[in-house]
Amino acid sequence: MISFRHPAKFDKEATLILIDKDQVKNRNFPVIPKALKESVRHVLDAGQFAADNGQLFPLINGKQVVLLVGVGKKSDLSTTALRLTLRGALLSSYLKKVKDVEIIVHDPKDDVIKAAIEAALIGTYAWEKYKTPDKNDTTTAKKHIFLAAAPKREYAETAAICEGVNLTRDLINDNADTVTSTYFEKTLRGLVKGEKNISLEVLDKKEMEKCGLGLHLAVNQGSKKEPKLIIVRYKGGSKDGDYTALIGKGMTYDTGGLNLKPTGHIETMRQDMSGAAAVVGTLKNALALNIKKNIIFACVMAENAIDALSYKPGDVIRGYSGKTVEIGNTDAEGRLVLADAMSYIIKNYKPARVIDIATLTGACVVALGHDYTGLVASDDKLAQKLSQAAEVTDDRLWRLPIYPELKDSVKSRIADIRNTGFPKGAGGTITAAEFLRQFTEGTPWAHLDIAGTAFVDGKQRMYFGHGATGASVRLLTHYLMNN
Ligand code: BES
Ligand code: MN
Ligand code: ZN
Repeated sequence: MISFRHPAKFDKEATLILIDKDQVKNRNFPVIPKALKESVRHVLDAGQFAADNGQLFPLINGKQVVLLVGVGKKSDLSTTALRLTLRGALLSSYLKKVKDVEIIVHDPKDDVIKAAIEAALIGTYAWEKYKTPDKNDTTTAKKHIFLAAAPKREYAETAAICEGVNLTRDLINDNADTVTSTYFEKTLRGLVKGEKNISLEVLDKKEMEKCGLGLHLAVNQGSKKEPKLIIVRYKGGSKDGDYTALIGKGMTYDTGGLNLKPTGHIETMRQDMSGAAAVVGTLKNALALNIKKNIIFACVMAENAIDALSYKPGDVIRGYSGKTVEIGNTDAEGRLVLADAMSYIIKNYKPARVIDIATLTGACVVALGHDYTGLVASDDKLAQKLSQAAEVTDDRLWRLPIYPELKDSVKSRIADIRNTGFPKGAGGTITAAEFLRQFTEGTPWAHLDIAGTAFVDGKQRMYFGHGATGASVRLLTHYLMNN
């Protein structure tokens, strides 16, 4: 939880003071309690605290911990570095037992304060639902943060957006057998309950069979769980205003199917619904911020299970669009469910633009690593606006190309298109995108491949700990708010 108040009071169990190098040089500090002035002077005179970025120096003020937090030279400090440093301070052993923390920033600019809010709410998130609490280690126990800044609408919005991000992370981190398609439906129904101007369409197996969503059904064929296409129509904008559709891949588990994933690749595949989870987090934000746009939020839910009934490599399957697809590999399942969902939503909801979000290809991890989401778009304006939103939010994107000649990479000898690219192993992210593009019917479209960014396996990355990051929620929320 976070609260805003100004000026600083030094009345909590701990106060964190962010200090840059110029402040040390000029001895130009914010209000420091009288009792501490002397010790701070000694520490500085002795050169023990130079405000190097990340440097922590604890002082004791009666019963209170006052933690000096260096942020280096102000001109060198990115908001990313600031989030990282403040996260480090909040998770440091000095605050292990502390529940209420005051934070004083070195520079009370909006950018700095927003980054501090994110460091507090996103940076200290930890997935500990299944860990027996350790009384001796309360490092990541929820703290109440008091930021020394006057309340502002923008700050409250940033805090709300962090909650959307963390909802997405909770959905991704929990077990695949807990967060099923039914769980998603319940979560979405809970979110929109009592809201005006929202309607919900849920297609389950029976409806899908009736409508001919053959690709989606094939992917789920080996699973005991129900496939679902959940579509939320959010009417925040004008009555005759156009719609933006967000369509998220929701593979609650991806075993690879009969093309079973090997050990080393399968263990984190509960993350394969990260696109759909990002759609849920973004919907939560749209509601919290009362975004005045018309938006379709769609979660495309299935489980790619291995079973006697599983769909098979070599099958040819007809999708909702009428096109037939040769299954080159049952592990290329994400593009199949997305193709059906895009065809269905474009035909029945006629959005002006479509953005799909998916943990789609391992190739994207190879190409871009873990810090940049891959962006492929048929529409330059849409790509530009998304990139701009990415820049502002530090929810990073990098655009990859798509071009007419890529058509040849997904040709099939026995069907209209194939779900694996050719040549094998070449440009896997863009050939997957080309597959999707062929189901967009010319609607302006952008594709976010979050395979590398959605989940941290093991070591901390940027200001995220182990597990889900909530990739693309901040950028999508910003995009919807500002375009
Ligand atoms: N869900 C995976 C992609 C993925 C990989 C997500 C790593 C997160 C981390 C996707 O369904 C998949 O298996 N893609 C295959 C496609 C291939 C068979 C053409 C891949 O990337 O290997
Ligand atoms: Mn797969
Ligand atoms: Zn997958």
